[in-house]
Amino acid sequence: MTENGKRTIGLIWSQTPDRVIGANGGIPWQIPEDVQHFQDVTSGRTIIMGRRTWDALPEQARVAPDRRTVVITRNPEWFAPGAERASSVEEALALTDPDEVWVLGGAEIFAAAVEFATVIVVTEVDTEVSGDAYAPEIPPQFVLAFTTGISRSSNGKDSFQFRSYARK
Ligand SMILES: NC(=O)c1ccc[n+]([C@@H]2O[C@H](COP(=O)([O-])OP(=O)(O)OC[C@H]3O[C@@H](n4cnc5c(N)ncnc54)[C@H](OP(=O)(O)O)[C@@H]3O)[C@@H](O)[C@H]2O)c1
Repeated sequence: MTENGKRTIGLIWSQTPDRVIGANGGIPWQIPEDVQHFQDVTSGRTIIMGRRTWDALPEQARVAPDRRTVVITRNPEWFAPGAERASSVEEALALTDPDEVWVLGGAEIFAAAVEFATVIVVTEVDTEVSGDAYAPEIPPQFVLAFTTGISRSSNGKDSFQFRSYARK
């Protein structure tokens, strides 16, 4: 729940300064600290993702016994053991009400889900890559609620910063 008693609907992504989140169906950086951060935020929570993000995940990361996984697809015949199917963001949110949910992407799903978000958690990755999937802009109804300092990743290449935005 948020401070005003509303259900938490979180969006979480990592992006470059140009808001790139993906390229060629994958994420073009590997930051162990970001993976850990993602797990800390979403562990045990209900997660919602688009079908292409589902396809991009390694099989062992798709479903976990301690949480619900909902995949959004227009294909009524889509099925995967351990996951639930929804045909829109609205349907996924109705299906999971009143769970705290975290929307994992990708670009199409973030664009459709941002209007419902109560919190947005962003990892700013200081790298320049060309991509084909982009995060939405943070809407003006959100304020920066929390930020860490800039850290250097143990991957030896990238610097990153965690930011959290709350709906005003
Ligand atoms: N950096 C990050 O934090 C992060 C996080 C997640 C993903 N990514 C990256 O983002 C990229 C994937 O993003 P994407 O935009 O291509 O795909 P996506 O949002 O993961 O999934 C798109 C699919 O979702 C379904 N869909 C989308 N809008 C819908 C709607 N309004 N109603 C019903 N179904 C809908 C469709 O599935 P069907 O075609 O099955 O109908 C569509 O093909 C990848 O590169 C991935 O690695 C990055």
